[in-house]
Amino acid sequence: MPKLTTFPDPAAFAVGAAELIVEIAAAAVAARGRFTVALAGGGTPQPVYARLAAPAFAGRIAWDRTDVFFGDERCVPPDDERSNFRMAREALLAHVPLRPDGVHRIRGEDDPASAALAYEQELRRVFHRETVPALDLVCLGLGDNGHTASLFPGTASLHERERWMVPQYVEALASWRVTATAPLINAARHVVFLVAGAGKADVLARVLVGAYEPDVLPAQLVQPSRGEVRWLVDAAAAARLPSGFAGDREPR
Ligand code: 6PG
Repeated sequence: MPKLTTFPDPAAFAVGAAELIVEIAAAAVAARGRFTVALAGGGTPQPVYARLAAPAFAGRIAWDRTDVFFGDERCVPPDDERSNFRMAREALLAHVPLRPDGVHRIRGEDDPASAALAYEQELRRVFHRETVPALDLVCLGLGDNGHTASLFPGTASLHERERWMVPQYVEALASWRVTATAPLINAARHVVFLVAGAGKADVLARVLVGAYEPDVLPAQLVQPSRGEVRWLVDAAAAARLPSGFAGDREPR
């Protein structure tokens, strides 16, 4: 069942999110000897990743037993300022002792269809399995139009039932993305949405308490079959939720 936690301000949000990621990582390493995580792109997670890289948190994750993946990528080279990999590398990955082969980036510089296929193969290789893997944690953001990862309203990728990663042309952005699909996201052990800022208040309320219309609000597709969803939000993003909703409780 999804749970929502509201933090009073952006700093508390970043610390709270970093704390939850550390907890999930520790539990995964204790249970299975490694931690597999898919990072979100966009701007919201950047301060969370920066916290994780800071001394107070960095020493609390077994980076040498961690495999870092990405939930989506913009189809640009890895040093482009729009690259999700670049953001994560600069905020976090370059500052912690990950194994060189512990970072699995989506090749945004390649043809999108080939990059999506290659990433599925990489997941198969790392997880040694042909069936959909259960990542320990998938971090997600929420776009102000209800998208998450690069699952955008009205696009074909929303209806994907087999593939784990797909290429998607996004008309509204006039650009290609490569995105994890609902089958991959919903196989995760934990999914954590990171949502901050007043610009997300309307869409957050629609996603959590509005009608179920995933073609319009793709974030509603996220319903892990066995795992749990946590929504970490700041007070500004929580402003349009019904009163009494902005605590630690189940949104649906
Ligand atoms: C991306 C994302 C995307 C993002 C949302 C929210 O590549 O842009 O992964 O799903 O999480 O668009 O982005 P912000 O955090 O920047 O608002």
